Amino acid sequence: MGENIGVFVAWPYASGDRHLGHVAGAYLPPDIFARYHRLRGNDVLMVTGSDSHGTPVTVRAEQEGISPEDLFLRYHHRFLDGFMELGVSFDLFTHTDTENHHHVAQDMFSRLLDKGCIHKDVMKQQYCEQEERFLPDRYVEGTCPLCGFDNARGDQCDNCGRPLDATELIKPRCKFDGTTPIVRETEHFFLDLPAFSDRLMEWLEDKDYWRPNVLNFTTNMLRDGLRARPITRDITWGVELPVEGYDDKRIYVWFEAVIGYLSASMEWAKNQGQPERWREWWQEPARGYYFIGKDNIFFHTINWPAMLMGYGDLNLPYDVPANEYLNLEGRKLSVSRNFAVWLPDYLRRYDPDPLRYYLTVNAPENRDTDFSWYDFWRRNNDELLATWGNLAHRLLTFAYRNFEQEVPEPGELGADDKAMIAKVEEAFEPVGELIGKARFKAALAEVMAVAHEANRYLDEKEPWKVMKDDRQAAATTVYVMLGVINSLKILFYPFLPFSSQKLHQSLGCDGNLMGHSRIETFEEEEKSHQALVYDPPTADVSWAPSSLPVGQSLAKPEPLFKKLDESIVEEELGRLG
Ligand code: MF3
Ligand code: ZN
Repeated sequence: MGENIGVFVAWPYASGDRHLGHVAGAYLPPDIFARYHRLRGNDVLMVTGSDSHGTPVTVRAEQEGISPEDLFLRYHHRFLDGFMELGVSFDLFTHTDTENHHHVAQDMFSRLLDKGCIHKDVMKQQYCEQEERFLPDRYVEGTCPLCGFDNARGDQCDNCGRPLDATELIKPRCKFDGTTPIVRETEHFFLDLPAFSDRLMEWLEDKDYWRPNVLNFTTNMLRDGLRARPITRDITWGVELPVEGYDDKRIYVWFEAVIGYLSASMEWAKNQGQPERWREWWQEPARGYYFIGKDNIFFHTINWPAMLMGYGDLNLPYDVPANEYLNLEGRKLSVSRNFAVWLPDYLRRYDPDPLRYYLTVNAPENRDTDFSWYDFWRRNNDELLATWGNLAHRLLTFAYRNFEQEVPEPGELGADDKAMIAKVEEAFEPVGELIGKARFKAALAEVMAVAHEANRYLDEKEPWKVMKDDRQAAATTVYVMLGVINSLKILFYPFLPFSSQKLHQSLGCDGNLMGHSRIETFEEEEKSHQALVYDPPTADVSWAPSSLPVGQSLAKPEPLFKKLDESIVEEELGRLG
């Protein structure tokens, strides 16, 4: 019996396209993780969706003069397409404006209110006299009181990562007209975080396996002391309060979006026709992993666990392998200055696997890393193509041409043949262990080392030369190598599912290896929505070495990767900013 593994992925704000920083930070790692665990025979549930509410959406909609709903749906559909093309195998990618999510979020709010974890209070808020309205979160900008960064937003400082109250900003200004807001009183609901401090500290005690930056950030926040945080806003786009008399307020987006992990699990279960199955990941023994960027740490290691503790009878996060940032050409990415590589643009021009490869070998796991087009180009040609693509391709074309398009019968295996087979067999355990610990960069390096070894073995054996005098010896090498690349297909699969699928077909194996994502429409009582769902692989494969039966027919080989021309480097640099 498999383990229950929850793979929970940060809900992307549906207010702009995803860029490669987002992909490296939060969207590619969980897919590697989920694909691996499915092969291990574990029960994986990977869910998220568009974060449809909050001021990122309303601010942008106001700027464009359209409704928040139209704006979020535009990006929601772009997310569905982008993640499908990138091969992110979400069991469900929904959004937070479903009836289901509204209900689950309101239920949690009500229960926490009943249990005394939420209380009402009057607070001071920035108010724009020009526009006669309150300015929540991103409607106000100013200087961070904690680190002095002068472009902090009213909800969070992007420089030091700490959550803020808009009234704490030094020299605040209204985002829309630049005027200095005044401070006015307004009534809001607060989550009593201080009440959970001790339990959070205790919960952290056995988390020595967390990434150091995540653990340090969290323990520092706890040590500095938590404050009750307002979880409602003066805004009319979002989830309504389940309390009478607050028609012009909504639940704060960060309070309800994290509840999406639970509501999406429930939605998935309903879609399966097994509405109780969400419990396997939330109430039965299970491990929940949360894949996020470092700017989301607070909400996943403090806020969400506190909410879960308050609600009761739900599993707390097991790990939160937050990533650092991906820079671009040696500089910080900037969405406002359009200094970023956008996922839809990348996918229009290149294949997904080279990006998946590059963003993994260059993953910002423990420190910021840099995306450079030159480096992308070089690693595509010199590593991915030279070491893995060409290895598979030259072997397959040779086997296809010289051995009647079948896996040949080997002669007796020599010590070097056995050593090669052992190399690839022995890789499964350490690679799997690294992936299981969310150390994807190191895991992929191990797989590449096996591919290097296989190249060395093949070059030494030279079956294309040996063939003329000793067909049996050549057949033995080809047989060994076909088994090796068949196992490498699996070792590479979590990282490079598209090329493993191609190879699976070339090797004449049955069934589909990578599964299949598709967009489906779901009806609720009053509304319908589109979501991404995933059909798992039909091929009979697992996380284990596997040789090919003698006589299996091979299909006409197709190159796994394309060689890229150096001119793309200049071209792409010209497109930036
Ligand atoms: N929408 C946020 C972002 O894009 C992430 C929200 S994650 C959740 O940064 F946990 F709140 F859902
Ligand atoms: Zn700051």
